[in-house]
Amino acid sequence: MIDILDRVRNTELHSKIVTADVAAQAIKPNMNVGISGFTPAGYPKAVPMALAKIMKETPFKINIWSGASVGDECDGELARVNGIHHRIPYQTNGDLRKGLNSGQIEYCDLHLSESAQLSRYGFLGGKVDIAIVEACAITENGDIIPTTSMGNTASYVQSADFVIVEVNTTQPLALEGMHDVYVPLDPPNRQPIPVVKVNDRIGTPYIPCGVDKIKYIVPCDIGDDVRPFKPIDEDSKKMSEHIINFFREEIKAGRLPKNLLPLQSGVGSVANAVISGFVDSDFTDLEVYTEVIQDGMLDLADAGKLKFASGTSFSPSPDGLKRLYDNIDEYRTKMMLRPQEVANSPEVARRIGIIAMNTAIEFDIYGNVNSTHIMGSKMMNGIGGSGDFARNAYLTCFFTTSTAKGGLISSIVPMVSHVDHTEHDTDIFVTEQGLADVRGLSPRERARVIIENCAHPDYKPMLLDYLERAEAATKKAHTPHIIEEALSWHDRFIKTGSMKK
Ligand code: COA
Repeated sequence: MIDILDRVRNTELHSKIVTADVAAQAIKPNMNVGISGFTPAGYPKAVPMALAKIMKETPFKINIWSGASVGDECDGELARVNGIHHRIPYQTNGDLRKGLNSGQIEYCDLHLSESAQLSRYGFLGGKVDIAIVEACAITENGDIIPTTSMGNTASYVQSADFVIVEVNTTQPLALEGMHDVYVPLDPPNRQPIPVVKVNDRIGTPYIPCGVDKIKYIVPCDIGDDVRPFKPIDEDSKKMSEHIINFFREEIKAGRLPKNLLPLQSGVGSVANAVISGFVDSDFTDLEVYTEVIQDGMLDLADAGKLKFASGTSFSPSPDGLKRLYDNIDEYRTKMMLRPQEVANSPEVARRIGIIAMNTAIEFDIYGNVNSTHIMGSKMMNGIGGSGDFARNAYLTCFFTTSTAKGGLISSIVPMVSHVDHTEHDTDIFVTEQGLADVRGLSPRERARVIIENCAHPDYKPMLLDYLERAEAATKKAHTPHIIEEALSWHDRFIKTGSMKK
């Protein structure tokens, strides 16, 4: 067995070290299993894989509650043996996605800031029965030093009857000190979350657990299954330029300070590319208050442009992860991981005036955003933290390329096929075509600015034609729509494979 004795600092706990196969037997049918992890970072690997083996022999299902998406060793393995009944609050795994778009897995797509509280109240179907948590180390007192993510782990540990800790030897011990663990009390006893500056420390560097709550400790040497980002393409570069130029104008107009306001940046390649664009910009002393710390933020730190980044997970590429591990002492002075209840807190987002930058699947001419569903029905990933930030930010920006699937789909449509963020939440839209600033505009004014600045030339005349006919048909009603036509672009794509007429 892998040697983890020096990482389990309380010698009494050494008797609880077992193999993953033994620990997995503690997980019984229909249990609510709270796991660590947020993106493919800091999630348990050995125990879920051992559990999948058991489920293959003797099929049964459990409910999986995480921080957000986790790696294939958990979501993929368990989905493939049909071992998940209910999944919250976010996912990105291909096999899991198949399961939840075919009626095999029930999926409750939640605002990430709210998911721990919902679990504590029992709204998700009871309470956490067991928590499986990846750790760098366990302290003398039986408290847990997390690894590359915080997510909902502290809350799940607090609520669980007992805890299985996977001590992962690929995770450097130098991660210790990067976490700030704070679980808010529930109403009516909740206090204000005392984060006023992005680098405020308000909690402990470990997850309080205690020796007695730990049932098993499992050694693991499987690293985080981090993925490379798509190379930064011309479209992403243009989007990055549009937003940076916009920020410069906002500074000139006195609406943003010189070092901007704390940046929040979404998941994925586009979001990473946009942040990377700041590296070559003239902005300095940038602050980040976000969910995931990706390569772009490491680039900012390396370029000396980052004052501080607070997040809930490190979700870099394989190269980025190596960079993080190699320079961890330096990054520790500039980065901190918090529970997602704090990292995504609407209260904190509004207080510190976040600039929220997230990616949309599509948005409509009136400024409503679909971040989750393909053609109205199929779940892609989930809303993640985008709603936590979009509603509460100082400035809410959404990015997408103006077309998808080689131009067969317009990402700007008359009416979105699913609504995650409403027109009331959105300020700025960016595509490779340009940027639309819709602050303070009426729906009909918004539509013209969005079509003019963001739509692809192939679809611009179609969108304008729709708008003008909708205005005529409704005699310029507040938000003009021709109801039987509003979703006809999606209908046409489903029937013909193209939104073009
Ligand atoms: N209609 C249909 N399909 C579309 C589409 C549209 N308008 N726009 C994109 N797609 C498809 C792409 O073709 C691609 O399909 P593929 O997987 O078959 O290749 C897929 O959607 C993903 O698009 P991609 O351009 O690769 O986007 P991405 O990796 O940047 O992810 C989201 C975009 C919206 C899916 C992703 O950002 C997300 O899940 N967001 C919601 C959660 C969130 O915002 N979290 C951050 C909060 S901090």
